[in-house]
Amino acid sequence: MFEVVKTTPYNDQKMGTAGLRKKSKVVMQQNYFENFLQSIFNVINPQGKTFVVGGDGRFYNDIAIQKLIKMAVANGVKKLIIGQKGYLSTPASSNLILKRHTDGAFVLTASHNPGGENGDFGIKYATETGGQCSGAVSDKIYEQSKQISEYKIYTADDINLEKLGTQKLGDMEIEIINPINDYVEMMAGIFDFDAIKKLFANGFTVVFDAMNAVTGPYAIEIFENILGAKKGSVKNAIPMKDFGGLHPDPNLVYAKELLATMFGDNAPDFGAANDGDGDRNMILGKKFFVTPSDSLAILTDHYNLIPAYKNGIYGVAKSMATSTAVERVAKKHNIGYYEVPTGWKYFVNLMDSKRITFCGEESFGTGSSHIREKDGIWAILFWLNIIAATGKSVEQITREHWAKYGRSYYMRFDFDGIATDVANELMKNLENKISSLNGKTLGSFKVALAEVFTYKDPVDFSETTNGMRIVMDDGSRIVFRLSGTSSSGATLRVYLEKIEHNNLDAQSRDMVDELLKIAMDVAEIENRTGKKEADLTT
Ligand code: G1P
Ligand code: ZN
Repeated sequence: MFEVVKTTPYNDQKMGTAGLRKKSKVVMQQNYFENFLQSIFNVINPQGKTFVVGGDGRFYNDIAIQKLIKMAVANGVKKLIIGQKGYLSTPASSNLILKRHTDGAFVLTASHNPGGENGDFGIKYATETGGQCSGAVSDKIYEQSKQISEYKIYTADDINLEKLGTQKLGDMEIEIINPINDYVEMMAGIFDFDAIKKLFANGFTVVFDAMNAVTGPYAIEIFENILGAKKGSVKNAIPMKDFGGLHPDPNLVYAKELLATMFGDNAPDFGAANDGDGDRNMILGKKFFVTPSDSLAILTDHYNLIPAYKNGIYGVAKSMATSTAVERVAKKHNIGYYEVPTGWKYFVNLMDSKRITFCGEESFGTGSSHIREKDGIWAILFWLNIIAATGKSVEQITREHWAKYGRSYYMRFDFDGIATDVANELMKNLENKISSLNGKTLGSFKVALAEVFTYKDPVDFSETTNGMRIVMDDGSRIVFRLSGTSSSGATLRVYLEKIEHNNLDAQSRDMVDELLKIAMDVAEIENRTGKKEADLTT
């Protein structure tokens, strides 16, 4: 039975850096999810269209999916392709959009944010490009959500999401698929699986931490079953609604268990982790951590070792906040190089127009044009492929990279839970004075460029401003921006980069210390927020 249900707007359904992200309890409010989904439908007209649907398995994933299915029927959707149990990693969903030529996807995830009733929930809407919708589309959806007065839903029993194959609800077709097969096939088409198999057969050891999130089953199939890593190499492999209480963000703060293993006695040769929805990655060697910025640079430098890229790559892009390590590699290889605002959606036009093949962000995101999202397992396989081809360790590869290109000491400092108006004031104040810093001496640095970062998309010519940067004349940098993924309050992110060509073996914290003092001072952070130091350092 079709129903039209009256509703009233919530006024807070503006998408951020990666879709709509809110506290679970906010999304659980009456009609909250329905309002948002209907707002999307009202903007995109889903009649006769096919969408991919899945999520990272977090709390409310199951309930939201059933609502989505019934609203899709009522809004005239032709077909939904759904991951079994309602699970799909973000990279797997992007692959399915492209492979099955669908009109887009709905991915239920708050990425690396904690899950559970007291955690976060989120919804990402991707278009037929395989990537998240543009800012212009999300603005329209937000406008709709502020005016919404009714939504359409089909009343029916819940759909069984375990049973593979095709079923019908109303006039809509529902195909439940095993999402792992398509993903494995794609990875096998990119990397030299035989070389990686040999690596494991020769005793190479690995530990992969799925952080109780969506990539566990993908990782077991690829690393253990297909490539032959020892059974049990994949840890925390079963997706859980609250991620077992873990914060599924693969970084030096939250991947505690993995770090203890990799920095302990008898550490395996290689360690890695993914985030909640499988698009982020962290790479570790024996007692050795690779920054995501270095990882992007190193992968790019070794493209010719990978079957899918060995005939050449187009170019590379990074978010502005990411270190400039990859810029030096792009120069050396004489390939295109782009700097975009934070958020994966800015890479999509560059990939579609064949300007770039690789891209990455400092926030543990790396990927290529095989899909239109970052891809955690892809990055790990890339590293394993390099190791298999060169016979070198993670540390050796990284140190050789620094020796060749110089080292970008890089750290990010997050100031969390700032009142929104305080954070906005701080940024406004900085914006007003930023250009006056040009040419000034700050401590031992001389400012070469101080500006609000503005990006002009070379394909659709849209302009986006995103944060501010102070670039010193030795290339060292300070970047300020506000997070666009906070589910409450504001987070100020301060990114620091110090470039060294000779001093390659220092502690990052020492190397960025002066830049941190300058950043605190210039942005009046303590004065305005009361915080003497960052809440989180990665
Ligand atoms: C954060 C990261 C950004 C990433 C996004 C989604 O966004 O900084 O690089 O694309 O999560 O994973 P932010 O909170 O900084 O806006
Ligand atoms: Zn993610």
